[in-house]
Amino acid sequence: MFPRILFIVSLLVISTLAIAKPKMVATATSPGKVLSVNLSIDEGRLSYSVARLGQPVIAPSRLGFLLQDAQSLDRNIALVSQETSNFDETWEQPWGESRRVRNRYRQLHVRFAETTRDKRVFEVTFRLYDDGIGFRYEFPTQPNFKQALIANELTEFDVVDPSTAWWIPAGEWNRYEYLYNRTPLNQVSQAHTPITLRTRGGLHIAFHEAALVDYASMWLRRVEGQKLRAQLAPSSEGYSVRRTLPFQTPWRTLQIADTAGGLVESNLILNLNEPNKLGDVSWVHPAKYVGIWWGMHLDEQSWGTGPKHGATTENAKKMIDFAAANGFRGVLIEGWNLGWDGDWFANGWDFSFTQATPDFDFAAVTAYATSKNVHLVGHHETACAVSHYERQLNAAFDMYSKNGVDQVKTGYVCDAGQIERQDAVDGPILREWHDGQWMSKHHLKVVTQAAKHHISVIAHEPIKDTGLRRTYPNWLAREAARGMEYNAWGNPPNPPEHEANLVFTRMLSGPMDFTPGVLSLKGRGLKGRGGQAIQSTLAKQLANYVVLYSPVQMAADLPEHYQQNLAAFQFIKDVPTDWEQTRVLNGEIGDYVTIARQERGGTDWFLGSVTDENDRVLNIPLDFLDPQKRYTAQIYRDGADAHFRDKPSDFVVESRTLSSSDVLTLRLAAGGGAAIRFTEK
Ligand code: NOJ
Ligand code: CA
Repeated sequence: MFPRILFIVSLLVISTLAIAKPKMVATATSPGKVLSVNLSIDEGRLSYSVARLGQPVIAPSRLGFLLQDAQSLDRNIALVSQETSNFDETWEQPWGESRRVRNRYRQLHVRFAETTRDKRVFEVTFRLYDDGIGFRYEFPTQPNFKQALIANELTEFDVVDPSTAWWIPAGEWNRYEYLYNRTPLNQVSQAHTPITLRTRGGLHIAFHEAALVDYASMWLRRVEGQKLRAQLAPSSEGYSVRRTLPFQTPWRTLQIADTAGGLVESNLILNLNEPNKLGDVSWVHPAKYVGIWWGMHLDEQSWGTGPKHGATTENAKKMIDFAAANGFRGVLIEGWNLGWDGDWFANGWDFSFTQATPDFDFAAVTAYATSKNVHLVGHHETACAVSHYERQLNAAFDMYSKNGVDQVKTGYVCDAGQIERQDAVDGPILREWHDGQWMSKHHLKVVTQAAKHHISVIAHEPIKDTGLRRTYPNWLAREAARGMEYNAWGNPPNPPEHEANLVFTRMLSGPMDFTPGVLSLKGRGLKGRGGQAIQSTLAKQLANYVVLYSPVQMAADLPEHYQQNLAAFQFIKDVPTDWEQTRVLNGEIGDYVTIARQERGGTDWFLGSVTDENDRVLNIPLDFLDPQKRYTAQIYRDGADAHFRDKPSDFVVESRTLSSSDVLTLRLAAGGGAAIRFTEK
């Protein structure tokens, strides 16, 4: 008798388990009722799901943490309380793609507690916008949880509809400098964010994060099917993140739009960051710059001293003259300081950030620049000896600010995972990741220290952008993708689809210091392979100034190449780097895109359009123009025979009168583009 009863009881338990439905514990909808989120608890495990206009987009996906020194925080979770609130404010950017940004969301704040032993407590805040969702975990002060050693986050994104993904690998040696993969989502391995998807139903989705402060970057690892899970960048200490309570994680973000352009127009990432903490930032200057730079990448000049040394007093003065004559505010000079001689990749601990080479008279060059109303863009290449750099930060910034140098380009050249950290002088050297927690703190140290000296920062080989320019507007731009330099020596160079990929992936995170504008269309070539053609037409080089947003844009080519292409150079001289408003007029990920931007504080509009390896004809309604006005359009476009392979320099400049009721037909050559300046008549 007894075994039979046991059998029936266990059957009952099993069937209760089988039919037990996850319990929905909280729900909220975005202000325009476009997006909604549901939170549910299934046998003590917490998950969220997302729907758009009632259709499921993200299937129930787990939330939680694996901790190194304590029980993981993912089971035995119960709801404690919840509240919703609304927010709607329009704020002004000191500089940016648009002056005004509306921040309108519905917030769902939910408190959870463990039902077992330690009764640890955490909160999750969701902000629901009509074009995306951000959520973060918050850990309040509590008795049984003082410090979190986070081995990993269990946050998942389980995409419902079969999707195509555009992504670059994460955790690989070359940091973010990879060509974009386009694969079915179920073939992604481990990706950096932003990762961008198009679903079978035509929806566009990008996963990323906002306000990455004192935390490890989130990579996304595919677990099974179309389910991605957070994988936090490692640290030298075993766990990925160490935080003392109270603290909050960065926002995990989902941008969701009908069109690819909708992702670009979304302000979700900026809105989820804290407002400006620096106060008056009138000392931050969006501007264009030229420099002693491309010559090194072509191997015509060298960073190190010797017969080819680029950063000599004489070369610097010539470059300053060129900048002054053509209206560029900035001049970047790389290789001006001690430490470049020999194998600089391997000798970061030899860099001095205050001592110039004997053939570079820092005082004379900066005084000359000042006399011409030009500012040097300082250069701090660390070759990853980051603690060594930190020890010199203050003296280096002091020297720059006293000499009119108010922007600095930083650099962290070394393989991923090889950042050198030394907590005490003569202490052991620990290896960190470019995108780990330690580097997230380092970059903010640089940016806040620079701010004290009224210096702005452009970071190369950085941690990815997560919108911190809102909080620290002196963090102007970063690299964090393959830029122009790959067209000098890259194997392979950037393909024609590169820019149309960047706009819908990397650029969703923030401004990029791509360093466009190589009008010679020639790189250095690979050793033994001869010269290398840049896979772009001339017109596309101009279009990139509008399409790839940055408040600082380099005119990267050598001055003599600009002298040889004066008609095209005119557009580079005219195009601003700061905007009143921005419209994405059309585009498909990896194929093409057209963007129009109105000059900040002015009435001119600038339009850039780029295509991949396919030529195409685009019909562009000009309804962004003021309907009361007529405009002179200076059109820089591909010639009839232009092709990135055969005739990249076939190029036409023409002037037309156009108005908002016109539909402009633009023909883009294979690998081509178009750039237009509209001026009121
Ligand atoms: C890599 C940067 O991206 C590049 O612009 C710079 O010239 C070199 N590092 C040297 O610092
Ligand atoms: Ca394509």
